[in-house]
Formats: sequence, structure tokens, C-alpha cells
Amino acid sequence: MSVPKVLIPWLLIAFLFLSCTALFGQQNFYDNDLLPASFHKDRREQLRKKLPPGSMVVVFSNPVRNRSNDVDYKYSQDPDLYYLTGLMEPDAAVVIFSEPREAFGATSDEILFIREKDDSRELWDGIRLGVKMAGEDLNFDHVQVNRKFLEMSGQVKGIDNFYIKYPTDIDVNIGKKSSLNRMVKEMRSWLADERVSDGAGRLSTFLAELREVKTDEELVLLQKAVDITCAGLEKAIRNIKPGMTEYQVQAIAEFEFRMMGSEYQGYGSICGSGPNTSILHYTDNRRPMDDGELILMDIGAEYHGYTADITRTVPVNGKFTDDQRKIYDLVLKAQLEGIKKVKEGERFRAAHELCARIIGEGLRDLGIISNKSEYMKYFMHGTSHYLGLEVHDTGTYGTLQTGNVLTVEPGIYIPEGSPCDERWWGIGIRIEDDVLVTPDGPQVMSDKLPKGPEELEQLMSQ
Ligand code: GLY
Ligand code: MN
Ligand code: MN
Repeated sequence: MSVPKVLIPWLLIAFLFLSCTALFGQQNFYDNDLLPASFHKDRREQLRKKLPPGSMVVVFSNPVRNRSNDVDYKYSQDPDLYYLTGLMEPDAAVVIFSEPREAFGATSDEILFIREKDDSRELWDGIRLGVKMAGEDLNFDHVQVNRKFLEMSGQVKGIDNFYIKYPTDIDVNIGKKSSLNRMVKEMRSWLADERVSDGAGRLSTFLAELREVKTDEELVLLQKAVDITCAGLEKAIRNIKPGMTEYQVQAIAEFEFRMMGSEYQGYGSICGSGPNTSILHYTDNRRPMDDGELILMDIGAEYHGYTADITRTVPVNGKFTDDQRKIYDLVLKAQLEGIKKVKEGERFRAAHELCARIIGEGLRDLGIISNKSEYMKYFMHGTSHYLGLEVHDTGTYGTLQTGNVLTVEPGIYIPEGSPCDERWWGIGIRIEDDVLVTPDGPQVMSDKLPKGPEELEQLMSQ
């Protein structure tokens, strides 16, 4: 079939347009539910309100981490930089002043330093935002290419308070010539010249105070991450059978996550069966599962940066043994009571203290320990942590307030050889839900996913 000549220029334009759209897609232009630039701008404004006059905050991007040769690990932005800017690119830094300052011939209370456009790199790695697009899309009135950061100390004078967040493992993990490394070195020598400290502790408190209270926009994304995780776990639970491997259970859940648009997991998926149920952060997930054992699945889909963190423990053959059920019921009782403590004005630790008491008394009554204070032999972790951009999210761990999201995750783990009757050996159970503090009390964001023992058995029998 021949194409009429008159159509050729139009086909060319259409082709170029489609190619550009494909490239833009790599910068996440396909998703229309990302946090808006106004959210990040407001976060910068809220941080600014906490700063004394004469302050300057600098938050750097995460380094690109090399796996080997020319393959890097999937890039993940520093959560504070993402929170303050929405930027997903490496080799960047944001500067926030307490009041407008002149620098590089412009006056603003913030400057974003970002990678330069580079046609040849963009051909391999996808489009870079560049100064112009970053200014428009991320709502910054002052953007500079990152090499200009090296001139900052000459441009900005009379800072009384520095608050600098350096990237972690910067010295070992990134190429000496990377722009990020150069910016970090420059910042360190500036502080050395001024003979001042980096104020990192104060900055992390400011950011913890902000990030521990989720806005409505964040809660939409967090709920989506939780819903995806519930769907993936439910599908996995329905399909578990003796003879399957742990990784096959993981695969079912993670397949569902991807199908529902989750970009990643918030942490390595934990699918431990039999003796592996007692390894708290087990991620090998290679073991074939046997009849009569339990499998503990602790998984969290990440959606647009926000991660869920949910655990269910089920019998591989679909029916709890009497002894498994006794331990399960005790963990569930502790968890349900602990959730009631997730309310405004309560201490962060209150849920843990109650769970520990219930588990201590329960283990004593079952004859597994002789004194309830020995509970830590079998329940050796905390009950709660904040949840958000990180699975163990930042926060003040003080008094709970509306907008806090935390996990409630008591567990009992009895490895082989434990100093109790052998009948309990190999039982490891954790039940974990994600709970939002509201003015009306705790709201279990993950309540779609069954956790009652009969409900789970019912789900597995279908
Ligand atoms: N998934 C890790 C935790 O529950 O804290
Ligand atoms: Mn977990
Ligand atoms: Mn957790």
C-alpha cells in the first residue's frame, strides 16, 4: 500500500509526537494521580515556618547505587527530597532559605539544583527534566543546573543556621566524579570554612514533625498502596498449597502488585514457612512448604513512593492445628486490643505495652514461659512504627495525633530448640495492619484483608 505524498509530513509529525510521549512517560507523565506540585510547595512552606531567621536548609538526592559493571540498582529518591520537591532524578539538591535571598542574579527563598539536559544520555536513560521543565512542573521559581552549586558559598553570605542532610553512604557508593559527590564536598568545605555544624539532627526533627502527619493527598496514595497489598495477599492466600515454594507465594502477591500499578515493594518481601516463620526479616523465600506448617507473609506494595506493610500468617494446608490456633488466637487478641490504643492523645508506646502484657500473660497461661516478664524470648520486636514514604517512616514517637499512620504488628516466634514443650516449636505468627489515627478513633486501612482464623480457613478452602 503506498502512502499519498501529502500525508507524509503529517505522519512524520505524528511519529515525532508519539516518540516524545513515550520518552516523557519515563518521567512519569503517564500517571495522573501523582502528588501535585502544590503539595510539595506547601511542604517547603511548612518547613520554612519552623526555621529561625537566617537559616538555610540543604537536602541532597540519593546517590545512584551501582550493582556491577554498567548495571545500577533501581533508583529510589531520598524520601525527604521527594517530599519537599517531587523530583525523582539523581544528582540534585534543594536549598530552602528562611527568607528570600539573592543568588545567581535572582531573589527567591528556594533554589532547586538539578541535572543538565544531555541528549546523548537521554537517548539511553530517558528524558531529564532540565531547568526549564523542572521550574514549571515542580513549581520552583529558581532552578539552577547542579554544577552551579559549587558557587553557592560565594553567592550566599551571612547564614546563621545551617541544616544539611547529606546522602547516606556517599563516600563508598558513588563515583568520585559524580555531580552529587562534588556538591557534597563543596557543602562540607563551606561548613568547615564557617566552622559550624551541619544541624542535621534539628533538620531531621523538623522533617519528622511534618512527615508524621499525613495530608489528605498522601492518604489517598497510602490507601492505594494498602489496597493493592491487600489484593495481592488475598490472592496469594487463596492459592497456597503444600508443595509450593515460598517464592511462588511471593510471586503471586507481587504479580498482583504490578498488575495494579505498584512500582516496587517498600522492602524485601518476607515469605517464610515452617522454621523461617521465626526469622523476622527473612527474604530468601526459596523453601518448599510442607503440609502442617505455617507461612508468614509480610509484604508491602509501594505506590508513587508510599508503602504499605501488612502481615498475615496462615496454615499451608488451609487448616490451623490446635496448637497453632492457640498461638494465633493470642497474637490476634493482642493485636485487636493494641489497635484500640491507636488514638489521638495516646502515647506511641501504649499499643506496644498492652500487646506485650497480653502476650506475656497468654504465654504464661499456656505454660510456654513461667513469668509474664519473659515475653521478650518469643516477642522480641516493637509493635508499631510509622508508615509512609518509608516502611519504618520518620516521626517523633511522642503523642499520637490525627493523620499519623502506624502499624500494629505483635508476633510470637518459637524456633526449634526453644526452652518450652516441643509441641510449640516451629510456630511463628505475626499479624500486622496499617492504622490511621482519626478524630473518631483508629481506622484500620487494611481491614479488607481477613485475619480471623475461620475467615482465613474459609478463604483458603475456596
Ligand atoms: N516489614 C517490616 C516490618 O514489619 O517492620
Ligand atoms: Mn511488616
Ligand atoms: Mn511493620
